[in-house]
Amino acid sequence: MLDTRFAGKDLNPVWLAPLAGITIPAVRKFYKALGAGLTHTEMISCAGLVHGSKKTFRMMETFGEAPPVVIQLFAGDTDTLLKGVELALKQDKWAAISINMACPMPKVLKKGAGASLLKNIEGAERMIKGLMVFQKPVWIKIRKISDNY
Ligand SMILES: Cc1cc2nc3c(=O)[nH]c(=O)nc-3n(C[C@H](O)[C@H](O)[C@H](O)COP(=O)(O)O)c2cc1C
Repeated sequence: MLDTRFAGKDLNPVWLAPLAGITIPAVRKFYKALGAGLTHTEMISCAGLVHGSKKTFRMMETFGEAPPVVIQLFAGDTDTLLKGVELALKQDKWAAISINMACPMPKVLKKGAGASLLKNIEGAERMIKGLMVFQKPVWIKIRKISDNY
């Protein structure tokens, strides 16, 4: 379900997935022009937002893109996640929040984020429940990775 602003709208069910380093505004705009019903940002670090990283804040820029745009965020703990979401939602342009519990990159797993959250179900549950306070549509992207990680 999307933000109520999009309820009842006939969106193309073909969407642009979140792709780190790829789904920058120009690419989202291009896919939207090709007919994508919805686009995702790249995965954006909540820790980066919390620490005020300019580079991370720039990842939240949009350039006159047609909505809906969904922001994808990641964090290794609930506190950082909720603080990051709060900062992201100061910009009232996101149709939903996607939480990345799928990324298999070692540098993300090491922080307890991405796919490693599937090995920390209580932590993942705390994150999801914590997000209810924002009254915003949320979806979680998950990926089962090898037990060796
Ligand atoms: C270069 C690259 C970057 C990706 N970045 C993200 C990301 O930031 N967030 C995410 O949830 N998935 C990410 N993915 C996974 C894709 O969104 C998608 O789930 C995956 O490619 C499988 O989709 P497909 O079967 O259509 O290829 C990435 C995949 C690739 C290849």
